[in-house]
Amino acid sequence: MTVPQQAASQDLPSFAVENAYRHWAKVYDAVCAPVFRPAHKAAAAAANRIGGEVLEVGVGTGLVLPLYDRQLWVTGLDISEGMLAKARQRLGERPMPHVAALETGDIHELRHPDESYDAIVMPFVLTLLAEPERALDNCRRMLRPGGEIIIVSHFQSATPGIAKIERWLAPRIAGLGLRPDFPLARIAEWAASHEDLAPPAVDSAGPLAVYKRVRIRKLPRSETAVI
Ligand SMILES: C[S@@+](CC[C@H](N)C(=O)[O-])C[C@H]1O[C@@H](n2cnc3c(N)ncnc32)[C@H](O)[C@@H]1O
Repeated sequence: MTVPQQAASQDLPSFAVENAYRHWAKVYDAVCAPVFRPAHKAAAAAANRIGGEVLEVGVGTGLVLPLYDRQLWVTGLDISEGMLAKARQRLGERPMPHVAALETGDIHELRHPDESYDAIVMPFVLTLLAEPERALDNCRRMLRPGGEIIIVSHFQSATPGIAKIERWLAPRIAGLGLRPDFPLARIAEWAASHEDLAPPAVDSAGPLAVYKRVRIRKLPRSETAVI
């Protein structure tokens, strides 16, 4: 995957994102559910194909949870108690036996054992993280060989004029916990720096290619073994 990388705004501090999503929690579903629905379906479909144990990072109000197959075993993680409270309310209204746990925490610091998950799903969260590559390192550690990290998000536009507008916008909306100019190339560079990861597979997550789905497979041991 070759993606041009242009200058981008700074990564967002975790405390600012946590603070922003405390406020977002009240209106999040009304504003975001219809817009994100196709991308949420694309994320869940990729996890459903893999099956097994799933970690959803930045589970938010739990909009993706009903879209997973009932055979999966899903743990949701979020840094915002406000967003998680809505997810718990959703579970109370509509039982979802495939949801194993909802945990408060920061993906940078999560210390679940190595190789705990078959899929790690990151819907609309990677671009908001304080240290995306460190968070991805932690996801790679927790992912089983043969498993996938599944990211859906908006990334910096490949059209220079639009990318320029996104760069202009980024510092102005950072306080809202939004980041429109994250370069997709950063993910490709991160994946390329690890021998046990396949190059990311990128496709569109919904109409008009506004959002992308990125799947990064951790190679089975048989494919990485030195002969
Ligand atoms: C844009 S919302 C997406 C929510 C949900 N994934 C969705 O697609 O509807 C981003 C979510 O990521 C969470 N988040 C941000 N930084 C995080 C971190 N470091 N660790 C865990 N969750 C985080 C926020 O609290 C928020 O709920």
